[in-house]
Amino acid sequence: MDQFVIQGGARLSGRLSIKGSKNATLPLMAAALLTDDPVTLRDVPNLADITNLRRLLVELGCEADYEPAQSWHEAGGVLRLHTTDPTPSHARYDIVRTMRASICALGPMLAKRGQARVSMPGGCAIGERPVDLHLRGLRALGAEIEVNEGDIVASAPRRTGRPARLRGARVFLGGPFGSTVLGTANVMSAATLAEGRTVIESAACEPEIVDLADLLNAMGARVSGAGSPRIVVDGVTALRGADHRVIPDRIEAGTYMCAAALTNGDVTLENCPFDAMIAVADRLEHAGVLVTADEGDDPMRCRVRVTASRVLRPLEITTQPHPGFPTDLQAQFLAMLCLADGNSVVTERIYPERFLHVAELSRMGAKLFRQGPTVVVSGVRSLVGAPVMASDLRASACLVIAGMAAEGSTTVHRVYHLDRGYERMEERMRLLGADIQRVSDREPVPA
Ligand code: EPZ
Repeated sequence: MDQFVIQGGARLSGRLSIKGSKNATLPLMAAALLTDDPVTLRDVPNLADITNLRRLLVELGCEADYEPAQSWHEAGGVLRLHTTDPTPSHARYDIVRTMRASICALGPMLAKRGQARVSMPGGCAIGERPVDLHLRGLRALGAEIEVNEGDIVASAPRRTGRPARLRGARVFLGGPFGSTVLGTANVMSAATLAEGRTVIESAACEPEIVDLADLLNAMGARVSGAGSPRIVVDGVTALRGADHRVIPDRIEAGTYMCAAALTNGDVTLENCPFDAMIAVADRLEHAGVLVTADEGDDPMRCRVRVTASRVLRPLEITTQPHPGFPTDLQAQFLAMLCLADGNSVVTERIYPERFLHVAELSRMGAKLFRQGPTVVVSGVRSLVGAPVMASDLRASACLVIAGMAAEGSTTVHRVYHLDRGYERMEERMRLLGADIQRVSDREPVPA
């Protein structure tokens, strides 16, 4: 298992181009199961999660060829998907356990093949993560669903012994923590091939849902309202292939913004989805960071300069569904606030247990007090490098940026979590001046 060894203290500066979004790409890939034609996705990042979903799609009868980016500055590679064998329908535990987002295959497979068997994803480091809303939504479209031997077994209603199309319905996707992003993706994708109109109420408004609706519409679907809490889908009998460019990754962009702020840096991000980052920019500006966006023609692909030149001000942050502050940046902002001038309050409203990084930051000298879903951060003058353990993707990013601002050396163990969602983070941080090395557990750690 690899680890990162970081010498803290460098002030980040320079330019970086943001990669295509991991969380947008995963449901887009699954949408290829909805058509017999080829689907091409561009700006696809080269990440472990994408590789895992490719493996699953191949098992499900879909050819999946990935051509990585040719140069550093490209946002990602080209992924060509083509479903040639519509008979398999089982997403096995072996693959699903490596990546929860395998659940994205459920809606498309059910809608196109009339049946789907997907291993039920378990909990993970950030909390329990049920899928009841996905199932409620698909049941509303007429699917029969049971859980059998750890698998979700779903089938479309049968007519004269053969699976028939799902049927449009009014579907409510609100849950105790708001809507569900992948649940909305599943129901919206399935509804494209259903008979009649589906209205999804309390739909997730995340930009990744808008990107999926754009692909589905390019494939011939009739989806409107994506990006709002009410999505309307008029079912069609078949979808065709399409060629689609994935939106840039707002969480990768937010992570580099945080790293720039924490190191009092001056970093310019190209291909930045600023339009989807209003809450993030708002918090950075409140902390005293200068954020200037040159929006050009496309507010989802702009140039943003992030400059910090003083001790940061403390913040109150509450994570919320989009357009609120994203849970996927909570850990990175928590790292940033460890060095702010005063007390900050961070409340997690999406995954109340998503705080495994708190104990690790404390090992670096941070002053944190957690009560339930809230952490109070008392800013300290400096963090001190230490060996720390990554527990999940965003917690890993938090520890890396904390290490970059700490005095001395920090070793972040188990960075395979990071590789699931950040392409070559150490090389990209080095490009900005960070002192960070990837070391295999078998190699000696540099002195
Ligand atoms: C997506 O997960 C993202 N993953 C997550 O990113 C992100 O943290 C999350 O949305 C919230 O923004 C991908 O896009 C691949 P949810 P998803 O269903 O869709 C509860 C990262 O770091 N809920 O929107 O699985 C759930 O427990 C990852 O990149 C139910 O109660 O999340 C949570 O509290 C991690 N029942 C809330 O809703 C359900 O059926 C939102 O979850 C589904 C969810």
